[in-house]
Amino acid sequence: MYGQTEIDSANVTGRSINRQAVVPRYVVATHRTGQTVLDFGAGRHAYHTRSMREHGIDVTAYDFGANVVPERHDVEALSREYDTVMASNVINVQTSMAMLDATLDQMAAAVKPGGRLVLNFPNTPRKLPGLTVALLQERLLQRFDVVRRVGGSPSAPILEATQHKRYRCLTQEHYRLLGATLRMNYAVLSFIADLDPGRYGDGVINSAQRAAVDGLRALDDLDQAIPSLAIIPQS
Ligand SMILES: C[S@@+](CC[C@H](N)C(=O)[O-])C[C@H]1O[C@@H](n2cnc3c(N)ncnc32)[C@H](O)[C@@H]1O
Repeated sequence: MYGQTEIDSANVTGRSINRQAVVPRYVVATHRTGQTVLDFGAGRHAYHTRSMREHGIDVTAYDFGANVVPERHDVEALSREYDTVMASNVINVQTSMAMLDATLDQMAAAVKPGGRLVLNFPNTPRKLPGLTVALLQERLLQRFDVVRRVGGSPSAPILEATQHKRYRCLTQEHYRLLGATLRMNYAVLSFIADLDPGRYGDGVINSAQRAAVDGLRALDDLDQAIPSLAIIPQS
């Protein structure tokens, strides 16, 4: 998935400890009790993972290549999903669009239904000259329905991406409204479909009945699709 040169180039950036990072600060400030966090590209020392654990947060550290230290990083981390995937100073060390896309795919795949990806795009260093904030946002919007700036500056933002396209998420309130709408439509359409054409006997009833039968079929399709939708727990 990644070339050795790409891994080596990213690895050298994660050997020192940066205590001032903005992403962990934002994640701690917006954390909800009981939620899990993946520190993607945690760096060799996994400093933020360890300091966030001191706040009582369940954090898993993940990195790749020579920056993996078995007692600090979980090499199986990407086989699970998390409420928050955070990437502090990781996007700016990607060295090609292919690497950026592979990295974003891995980050997005680790986000739970209803979860979020939080990342930043610092001004320095930037290892991929063609990568702009607009292009990064476009790449995120290929994977998430909502991307908003939650900190930083317009040129070096902290971005939060939610509503992963893979899940087609509904809130519980949308789910309740959808159920009520379905039931009402079933009742109205069934009433029309069951009208006796002999009694009313004109073309209006016949065409209304044809539309009602089509409508009932569409409702059946929708009803069957609902179990595949992820329902976001009420906050
Ligand atoms: C500049 S360091 C940031 C370390 C730490 N997150 C921080 O804020 O101080 C970037 C880290 O991201 C890691 N990284 C970059 N791309 C990655 C990928 N696709 N998979 C895993 N780790 C990655 C690098 O190995 C490096 O350790």
